[in-house]
Amino acid sequence: MIVFTAAYGSVIRRKSMSSSGIVLNRKGKGRTAEQVSAIMRRVRSRDTQPELALMRALRKAGLRFKSNASHLPGKPDLIFPLTKLAIFVDGDLWHGNQWKLRGFPSLAAQFKRVNRKNYWIPKILRTVRRDFRNTAELIESGWQVLRLWESSVLHNLEKCVNVIESAVQSNVGTEGHVAFSELSRLSVAEFFAGIGLVRLALERHDWKVKFANDIDEDKYKMYGDNFDVGHFRRDDIHKLSPTEIPSCALYTASFPCNDLSLAGARSGLNGKQSGAFWGLIRLLKGAQQKPPIVLLENVPGFLTSGGGADFENAQCPPC
Ligand SMILES: C[S@@+](CC[C@H](N)C(=O)[O-])C[C@H]1O[C@@H](n2cnc3c(N)ncnc32)[C@H](O)[C@@H]1O
Repeated sequence: MIVFTAAYGSVIRRKSMSSSGIVLNRKGKGRTAEQVSAIMRRVRSRDTQPELALMRALRKAGLRFKSNASHLPGKPDLIFPLTKLAIFVDGDLWHGNQWKLRGFPSLAAQFKRVNRKNYWIPKILRTVRRDFRNTAELIESGWQVLRLWESSVLHNLEKCVNVIESAVQSNVGTEGHVAFSELSRLSVAEFFAGIGLVRLALERHDWKVKFANDIDEDKYKMYGDNFDVGHFRRDDIHKLSPTEIPSCALYTASFPCNDLSLAGARSGLNGKQSGAFWGLIRLLKGAQQKPPIVLLENVPGFLTSGGGADFENAQCPPC
């Protein structure tokens, strides 16, 4: 389940796919093109079983909504017009989640043995991109967007209803903004940029760095030997102001690992070095346009630091 509000998140949209046998067995042989097409034809695009179950449960909870808002980008499955909340129930297959559910390492692996994989994989990726665009458009016109996986609705209906209920009641996320439109520009702000290795990898995939920061003079010089430093701010991250960071689709942060590493002192996220992480959180919280994607890179010790508490806090930082 993915929530799109002014806070962070990631997405996917629907067109639904409640037919059980649609996919592409892990061990089984590939289906013929005719078999796959026949399965795909059975897939409903609206009023699917999970959607109907969700609507029934919402009515039972006393919530009033409208269904099939075809006048809005992406045609949300449900809307709450007064709170400007749009809900999508995304079919796992079409919207690119099924490979995870079925234990494949990737979308490509899910379709490895499938006939016409060169047709189906791009089709799913196009849907995912369209989901991003529609979600961005909705958010930019003042809507909150909540995207639920069809599988979550089927298996965890009560939790889905609770999430919707609290979104309706609290009207979370109408203040602030997520820079979804930056996704198409592939723009990046890189923190803890060091000598630019993250940038090197991202540029291979057409990402464009709009801002970089690191405290270290020597690394800054090495970075400058390879990249333009016009956008580089060499300073302590704690001294940066959120207003000087341009709106970007992605913030990257290879923050110091000294206090998280198994080889280090293990003083955790409040340690002198790794505590720089909180500088990033401060910038994220203060950003007028929050990045839809944040990439944190660190050592495996991060997962176990403080008995797991550091990793948990990092995902849900205290206000
Ligand atoms: C793990 S390294 C990142 C390496 C980087 N990915 C690269 O390609 O070189 C952590 C970086 O955080 C920087 N750093 C540490 N404390 C900082 C702070 N308070 N503010 C800004 N940068 C800091 C260090 O100078 C170092 O370059």
